[in-house]
Amino acid sequence: MALGLCFVVCTSLVSSLTLGFGERLEREREREREREREREKDPSKLYLLGSHRKILLTHKATGASTLLCWNSILFKMSATAATSIGMGGGRPWTSTTSLTASAKRIQKELAEISLDPPTNCSAGPKGDNLYEWVSTIMGPSASPYHGGVFFLDINFPNDYPFKPPKVTFKTRIYHCNINTSGHICLDILKDNWSPALTISKVLLSICSLLTDANPHDPLVGSIAKQYLTDRAAHDKTAAEWTRRFAQ
Ligand SMILES: *[C@@H]1O[C@H](CO)[C@@H](O)[C@H](O)[C@H]1NC(C)=O
Ligand SMILES: *[C@@H]1O[C@H](CO)[C@@H](O)[C@H](O)[C@H]1NC(C)=O
Repeated sequence: MALGLCFVVCTSLVSSLTLGFGERLEREREREREREREREKDPSKLYLLGSHRKILLTHKATGASTLLCWNSILFKMSATAATSIGMGGGRPWTSTTSLTASAKRIQKELAEISLDPPTNCSAGPKGDNLYEWVSTIMGPSASPYHGGVFFLDINFPNDYPFKPPKVTFKTRIYHCNINTSGHICLDILKDNWSPALTISKVLLSICSLLTDANPHDPLVGSIAKQYLTDRAAHDKTAAEWTRRFAQ
């Protein structure tokens, strides 16, 4: 590949941790050789593999390594593949030789969020479309959502960052600002959106919304009413839903 980088996938982190260093290195080298052979056979294959895996990225010349999120590599791989072997294939962000302003901005946010994700959150492209992301949020410890993992879909508009991203919960949640369609009532996703905001800040706001609901601007009136009048019953139901749908 034009990147001149080797990719070593840590498929079984747990077992590799229990091996000796020399053994581990040998196994990683063998995997690397395997992947190189695969890559020669079919360069497009790499970015069709799974998501949310960690990857050890080693630079051939310097030997420097970094552990990165699979998704960010996938994106780099597919961008390189698309430009170097002409595989645009109708993807919106490779339809011209230079990336659009929105694609550049999303790519920058992807790099940032992969290296420094907000606490207890993750986010990255679902597949090879840069505008469609999936995210996970772990229920904050000071909330009835604690112990749950909530999946969200993020959809960037073509004129991002001038329009806000569309963020919806895919995991059911008992919350007065989030309805059963997963729609979130959050000012920064509507009128208070600003191009200075990032998806990272949006995820942080959603985390604080899980800790402190906003019952005075509800999407589900009955839950807001219960939140204000019987907080204990509200929290009990929210915790039950977390166990049922988010664990
Ligand atoms: C992140 O998750 C861990 C484990 O559940 C928890 O102990 C910690 O308080 C969480 N951090 C925040 C900011 O919610
Ligand atoms: C959730 O809220 C959105 C936006 O207000 C609305 O379009 C959708 O119909 C709502 N879904 C349900 C199940 O109420």
